Amino acid sequence: MVLKMYVLGIESSCDETGIAIVNDSKVLAHKLFSQVSTHAKYGGVIPEIAARQHLEYINFLIKETLADAHLSLEDISAFAAALGPGLAGGLIVGALSAKTLALICNKPFIAVNHLQAHALIPSLEYKIHNPHLILLLSGGHSQFIVANGLQEYQVLGTTLDDSVGEAFDKSARLLGLNYPGGKEIEVLAKLGDPLRFNFPKPLVNQKNCNFSFSGLKTAVKDTVDKLELTTQTVEDLAASLQYTILQIILNRLEHAILMFDKQYGKLQQLVLSGGVAANQYLQQHIAEFLQKQGIQLIVPKKDLCTDNGVMIAWAGLKKLQANLIDDLNFPIKVRWSLEDL
Ligand code: KG4
Ligand code: ZN
Repeated sequence: MVLKMYVLGIESSCDETGIAIVNDSKVLAHKLFSQVSTHAKYGGVIPEIAARQHLEYINFLIKETLADAHLSLEDISAFAAALGPGLAGGLIVGALSAKTLALICNKPFIAVNHLQAHALIPSLEYKIHNPHLILLLSGGHSQFIVANGLQEYQVLGTTLDDSVGEAFDKSARLLGLNYPGGKEIEVLAKLGDPLRFNFPKPLVNQKNCNFSFSGLKTAVKDTVDKLELTTQTVEDLAASLQYTILQIILNRLEHAILMFDKQYGKLQQLVLSGGVAANQYLQQHIAEFLQKQGIQLIVPKKDLCTDNGVMIAWAGLKKLQANLIDDLNFPIKVRWSLEDL
């Protein structure tokens, strides 16, 4: 009889405390405490407050998750946590919790790279073949990554300045919207004219797949400074911003596919992951673009796009199955590229 492996995963790299327990076929239980309402009044995440809130809620959430899964600590096969990249204070809270539980239960500890967790989570529901291309669009990152094995990644392109999530969030703030602004921009954009404002598309047509988004918030600021912010104007700005971001992504994607095909042969599957991947407008247009080229688009369920504990537990399970166990001395890594696993 093959014993089931249960992995408990902890996410605390930014402003969500996420706990989950998974086994090889399903999510047994998961809990998520979002600090969004706390940070909203500051217009962005305050690292010190984030760390304190993780500390305040983490033990309660672990107990609740175990209770929901009808498991006790002794049933858990390994404890995983996001060790980076992210905000140091939060990472320390998650890392110490997972390490302490591993130590007292005498079970393995697994250090998970948060970006790897975003990259792997679609495999919970979909069959994905290597090599494939990942477009990671989040609050901290905007990258094209080739996955060629569980621990083998090549970054084909990345942002030279702001991430796409920052372009959404910083522009939303200029429009007087709440943090995080991506979701709100998507809602308002449905009511606006995407062609009213012509925003810059940096790097477009350059023969690489890097991004640059910092000019967008400046362009939005210049426009906002010159206009009265009526409801219609805010909707048009949201629609024009989202449209511009889509045009940039599609152009960079075209180049990323060319780069992939040249190195690895015809691309079959593109994984779209990270918080910004929750955007239905982007998803739909990227899907149409890929369909014309016979490429399958794979996107995790909406609540698995944004940060959560399930993706950490799932990545932890994949590492455990490959016998990739980490030492309790494994340090947190505020910066941690997927090329340095
Ligand atoms: O992956 P994530 O939860 O955290 C990081 O690892 O950074 O991504 C958070 C980002 C935020 O910038 C947020 O505004 C953005 O994802 N986001 C969206 C949407 N939902 C979340 N951006 C655009 N449209 C959305 N529907
Ligand atoms: Zn994330």
